[in-house]
Amino acid sequence: MDLPDFPWDSLAPAKERARAFSGATPDEGEGLVDLSVGTPVDPTPEVVQEALRGAVDAPGYPQTWGTPDLREGIAGWFARRRGVPDVDPDGVLPTLGSKELVAWLPTLLGLGPGDVVGFPTVAYPTYDVGARIAGATPFAADATTAFGPTTPSSAPRLLWLNSPSNPTGKVLGVEHLAKVVAWARERGVVVASDECYAELDWRGEGERGEPVTDLPTTPSILDPRVSGGSHEGLLAVYSTSKQSNLAGYRAAFVAGDPALVRQLLEVRKHAGMIMPWPVQRALLAAVSDDEHVAVQRERYRARRDVLRPALEDFGLRVDESTAGLYLWATAGEDCRATLDRLAERGILVAPGDFYGPAGREHVRVAVTASDEGISAGAARLSA
Ligand SMILES: Cc1ncc(COP(=O)(O)O)c(C=O)c1O
Repeated sequence: MDLPDFPWDSLAPAKERARAFSGATPDEGEGLVDLSVGTPVDPTPEVVQEALRGAVDAPGYPQTWGTPDLREGIAGWFARRRGVPDVDPDGVLPTLGSKELVAWLPTLLGLGPGDVVGFPTVAYPTYDVGARIAGATPFAADATTAFGPTTPSSAPRLLWLNSPSNPTGKVLGVEHLAKVVAWARERGVVVASDECYAELDWRGEGERGEPVTDLPTTPSILDPRVSGGSHEGLLAVYSTSKQSNLAGYRAAFVAGDPALVRQLLEVRKHAGMIMPWPVQRALLAAVSDDEHVAVQRERYRARRDVLRPALEDFGLRVDESTAGLYLWATAGEDCRATLDRLAERGILVAPGDFYGPAGREHVRVAVTASDEGISAGAARLSA
């Protein structure tokens, strides 16, 4: 299978250098401040842990589709948090983290050789990987016009959107999403929108002149203003990994067109892709409680507020980054040069070229270190 090399191995030399850092002041501390990965570091909320503990007796097989109360709970979350009142619980399916779904969606939809899968030019690498696993053709594009004058027979079969974006933090607005949906519907293209950072929305704070928004989260592909009230051909992909510090549980879901979800369900039942029962209960607790998400959002907001000006002190410009867990920063030079300069200060970041050639002058700085790590990192940047 033609899969790309796992790029993180290329960071080993920079990581070694950063590990050897010794600060001139106690504030700067010693050793590595790792801002290269978006893995949560704060505790899993008690309300979720409790739900997991309450479900440890699980002798029987759980339902691949998830229990009706779990699917209803997820539909309720869409109504409460995303402004989507009309998610059909029959169109909801739990997944083992969303990376799994991203990697297997083209295969689960029956795509193969000759089929095109589109995704953004600067993107989470798994969209490309998923196309390759299916034997389909990956196609990076930022505008539907990049696909040329397509007809239903020459259009992509699946188009990935990612809003808020990893790595750029860009948010697609309602109008943009609605245009993509109209284009896709004319051509029979399935639109899958990866929205796993939707709860970490920093707009409405005057950054880059973004307007204050009408929702507490970023717009969903299933929003009635986008979908026109029908979820046909649309899938929203979501994960509680980031909003609820649950990356270790693998608790995510896909929702939208019930006919498409049934198709995924059929294959997943045969393939044993079943969310464990205790995780189903934990996921239900996570989507039913907004308070722990608000607490976590404030932690990340505080870390962003410390890190962003420090990156600017260091001479970087922060682009986009209006939502999500990352600051997308550039010094107008090759990202590997920025990576090395930051490693000398004991800070490891992700080079933008991990996310496609168009990211080669940016670095992705995750706000997922502990408060201590973030303040040491900021002190080093401003030194
Ligand atoms: C855009 C995007 N999609 C999906 C994932 C996968 O998340 P998980 O598998 O933990 O649900 C990530 C993780 O970083 C991500 O950034």
